[in-house]
Amino acid sequence: MKVLLIGDGARENSLAFSIAKSGRYQLYAFSSYVNPGIKENVDKTNGKYFVGDILSKDEVKRVISQVSPDFGVIGPEDPLFNGAADAFREEGIPVVGPSSKASTIEKSKVWMRNLMWKYNIPGRLRYRAFNNLADAAKFVEEYGGSIAIKPSEQVGGKGVKVVADIQAYLSQEKRRAASRSVDEIGRLVKDEVKIIIEEKVDGPEYTLHVLTDGRSFLPLPLAQDYKHAYQDGIGPETGGMGSISGPGYTLPFIDEDEYKATFEIVKQTAEAIKKETGDEYVGFISGQMMLTELWGPTVIEFYSRLGDPEASAIVPRITSDFGEILELAATGKLNKAKLEVDPRPSIVRAIAPLGYPLNRDLAKGKEISLDLPKMKEIGCQAFFGAISLYGGKLITTGSRALELVAIDDTYEGAVKKLDLCTSLVSSNTKLIYRTDIGRTIEEQVEKAEIVRYSYKDRIKRGVLGASMDWSPNGGLW
Ligand code: GLY
Repeated sequence: MKVLLIGDGARENSLAFSIAKSGRYQLYAFSSYVNPGIKENVDKTNGKYFVGDILSKDEVKRVISQVSPDFGVIGPEDPLFNGAADAFREEGIPVVGPSSKASTIEKSKVWMRNLMWKYNIPGRLRYRAFNNLADAAKFVEEYGGSIAIKPSEQVGGKGVKVVADIQAYLSQEKRRAASRSVDEIGRLVKDEVKIIIEEKVDGPEYTLHVLTDGRSFLPLPLAQDYKHAYQDGIGPETGGMGSISGPGYTLPFIDEDEYKATFEIVKQTAEAIKKETGDEYVGFISGQMMLTELWGPTVIEFYSRLGDPEASAIVPRITSDFGEILELAATGKLNKAKLEVDPRPSIVRAIAPLGYPLNRDLAKGKEISLDLPKMKEIGCQAFFGAISLYGGKLITTGSRALELVAIDDTYEGAVKKLDLCTSLVSSNTKLIYRTDIGRTIEEQVEKAEIVRYSYKDRIKRGVLGASMDWSPNGGLW
């Protein structure tokens, strides 16, 4: 059977790896550059690699007509927003990936928040949406509570500004800081200016990815993304500098009940999307969550796909045939899927060239080399991200270049393997990576315990999700 995979990053490399590992499929890929990790899997299965504009629905259709795949898999969000999954379905080909309409759950935070309130889905935050910067700036000047200011439209996980001070309205300077945040976010929003201001919550974050064919729902093991560029969570936000998963299906700071409650939220959301758009949700829907004192599991945002680098932490832990599971999801038979998972935890460490994420030009065009056989011996797997194969060399394209993955009995063991494997990567530029990924477990367990105590108390008092301090006028927004 032929599978056509769309996308070019490390997440797609991990998907290509599992599709090829299945042994049942010939892998075809359509990327915007030649990712060496995807290419290796395409070559292994005697497939073919296509390079072009993956954001163009017409180009996707052109590749579909050349390959005639049995099913498709779409990795990144932008092709989904632009109708890549619709292109498959219009040609009568099953695909893992929601329609453009259904992927609005990721594209627009305002749409997402509206949906959650309309369908009474737990874990929803209060928010206000603004169509222009001036109104948003006026609001933050007048409002004194803690807020998170975000662009409504997806801008690659970047742009969130938090004004975390209940007394902010007392200080001129803090008011100015809030307005500056609105301006900064305004600059990230290209077309129609839309800003969303949400009540600010705090707690450990985690992501639940759920695969669905619209009727059956298959939750994967949880993962946690480390968003900030530099060690100890400082520096600008990135797409993710690493991730962890396991042991088992949860994380050490999220319990079984919280996992189940999160699954319920994601499932209810997929069902609400169908009611709202008329489109069956087929593909991954992923809740990027925070455990908060307000709700317990609380939605920060949704992805209409697998997270990256979260996928690289989860996919190598899947011991059953994930390629077949993708096929079953695409073809509406997900109820037959058998998901088996290595119980041990995994850590992903992303490696990026100097310049990422703020100066992509500086991060482009650098050479990277790595000793893959030695890495394998140590027990690491490498997925290629923003690296293009050019004249036999591995050349950076400006973003996270590599994701190294290690599975071990303990997080400590995985960190040790990653330290050894990182030393096997070299470049003609400085490389940026975080060695603290997977080493913050204890503090997250402590943080979760405090939050858990508070939200359980809210459950007892019947005030889960209720907020009294979140309005300039004394009422709820
Ligand atoms: N790791 C965050 C994302 O996939 O958007």
